[in-house]
Amino acid sequence: MEKTILTGDRPTGRLHLGHYVGSLKRRVELQNSGNYKNIYIMIADAQALTDNFDNPEKVRQNIMEVALDYLSVGLDPKISTIFIQSQIVELTELTFYYLNLVTLARLQLNPTVKSEIQMRDFKSSIPVGFLCYPISQAADITAFKADTVPVGEDQLPMIEQTREIVRKFNHIYDEVLIEPKALLPDNQVCMRLPGIDGKAKMSKSLGNCIYLSDSAEEVQKKIMSMYTDPLHLKVTDPGHIEGNTVFTYLDAFCKPEHFEKYWNEYKSLDEVKEHYQRGGLGDVKVKRFLASIVNEELEPIRARRKEYEKDIESVYDILKDGTERAKEVAAKTLCEVKNAMKLNYFDNKELITERMV
Ligand code: TRP
Repeated sequence: MEKTILTGDRPTGRLHLGHYVGSLKRRVELQNSGNYKNIYIMIADAQALTDNFDNPEKVRQNIMEVALDYLSVGLDPKISTIFIQSQIVELTELTFYYLNLVTLARLQLNPTVKSEIQMRDFKSSIPVGFLCYPISQAADITAFKADTVPVGEDQLPMIEQTREIVRKFNHIYDEVLIEPKALLPDNQVCMRLPGIDGKAKMSKSLGNCIYLSDSAEEVQKKIMSMYTDPLHLKVTDPGHIEGNTVFTYLDAFCKPEHFEKYWNEYKSLDEVKEHYQRGGLGDVKVKRFLASIVNEELEPIRARRKEYEKDIESVYDILKDGTERAKEVAAKTLCEVKNAMKLNYFDNKELITERMV
């Protein structure tokens, strides 16, 4: 079977390390694996408007930032189709038909939507568009007949919702849609990288992010200010690893070869952890090590970003081109959907001329 990926991000800010380990890095690996025939990467501006409808400027401003982040991490527009959601009107039409297949009660059960409602303080005045974004996300995924959706853990409820819609649609109308599977990060720590303040999630509104576009100096500074173990006051004190952000990041980024390169006093992360827990290893040393590793990972990304930034017009062309290609695919699926629903009256006269009376 042809394997197809679709995934995307809301353009509400530049992408950060959480996005990188949680999803972006994996996408590039999948792209380069050659195992996927079609790869669609969507800038979800229409979805971003569901909770930023009063600030379209913010969404618009971030489209180019996200596109630059995509290209910088190594998504290759020759292999992956990068496109802008709002320009594909077919997605809206699909959403409209899918709305019938979902109940209000079901939407209100979605744990991600629930926590977002709380976070945004919508209380009882929840915009309908926001509540329905999981349905529009089902349209995004199914329009491209994606079977694989590489995402972070928080997106699992959206994939489940999509699967339910697919099953219901195929059962009621015809076997047109594909049930997708989520592809989660394989490294447990990468599921949800904490912010530099140790809070559960890296998030722009909390101001605790390391951005892919941060300079080496900014990254160094942020890492030196990272939350560690509040009980580790003196170097000689025994330290704790659990809940210690610096070690969480090391679990996400550190590889054996980093020791020879940046810290040859140790041979493995386990040795460092052991010393830290025993006492006698200061935070500053561990942080310096982490900063070297993170900067090594970000350096090629920064370099590629610089190149693309010199030619924003070419990035614009990549988006325009990708969107045109994506639109063709979505239009084909929409056509199949409408045929299955027998809404293609003007292709087939009898659908409305054969009267029952
Ligand atoms: N909900 C995703 C996010 O918040 C963005 C998104 C929109 C998406 N449509 C999608 C992700 C389809 C995967 C598949 O980042």
